[in-house]
Amino acid sequence: MSQISGFHRDRIRTVLKASPLMPVITIKHLDEAVPLCQALFDGGICVMEITLRTEHGLKAIERVREAIPEAWVGAGTVTCLAQYRQAEAAGAQFIVTPGVTEELLEFALTSESPLLPGISTASELMLGYGKGYREFKFFPAEVAGGTPALKAFSGPFPDATFCPTGGVRRDTARDYLSLGNVQTVGGSWLTPADAVAKKDWAKIAEIARGSLSDIS
Ligand code: 3PG
Repeated sequence: MSQISGFHRDRIRTVLKASPLMPVITIKHLDEAVPLCQALFDGGICVMEITLRTEHGLKAIERVREAIPEAWVGAGTVTCLAQYRQAEAAGAQFIVTPGVTEELLEFALTSESPLLPGISTASELMLGYGKGYREFKFFPAEVAGGTPALKAFSGPFPDATFCPTGGVRRDTARDYLSLGNVQTVGGSWLTPADAVAKKDWAKIAEIARGSLSDIS
């Protein structure tokens, strides 16, 4: 069976180690992408997942990569190979999927941008585990069992690391991060819709700073 390369694993580990918080960003207006990500970066967060849930996702990735070269910019909500290829072409440095398919896991073994595959069960995890994947998004974290589920995974999969996302909030991030198999938590709480609509970038930077301080 083909296995994940050292380069791919190192890249994903580097990304996860770079920030304990990964904002999940959905861009409603393209001109918001750079100031929003700049505010997060100014607030101390250097890893960002920009989702492909709107028509602006790919262009936003392109713009943020160019404007903030020091940040790690990934593409999220990638659900098929066509999107994977488009995200790579837009400059995404890593790819996040909400779940796994055999096709995506195989493609990602030799892709330019490495994959952080989403799983919520032991069986899904094992699909990736067999190919050498050891870093996973745990999604949707809260409804899939939260911290007790992650503790349970550490028995059979002691060398797997998770980025729980989905229902994680500022006041629960610390509980997840206290687990030995969690390196980073993701969430949309870092970019509240009302602050983004008001273009209140100072508020976004403050939320980033405050959230980092809450978990330190
Ligand atoms: C994701 O795609 O990771 C989630 O939609 C983020 O979940 P949240 O909005 O509950 O933080």
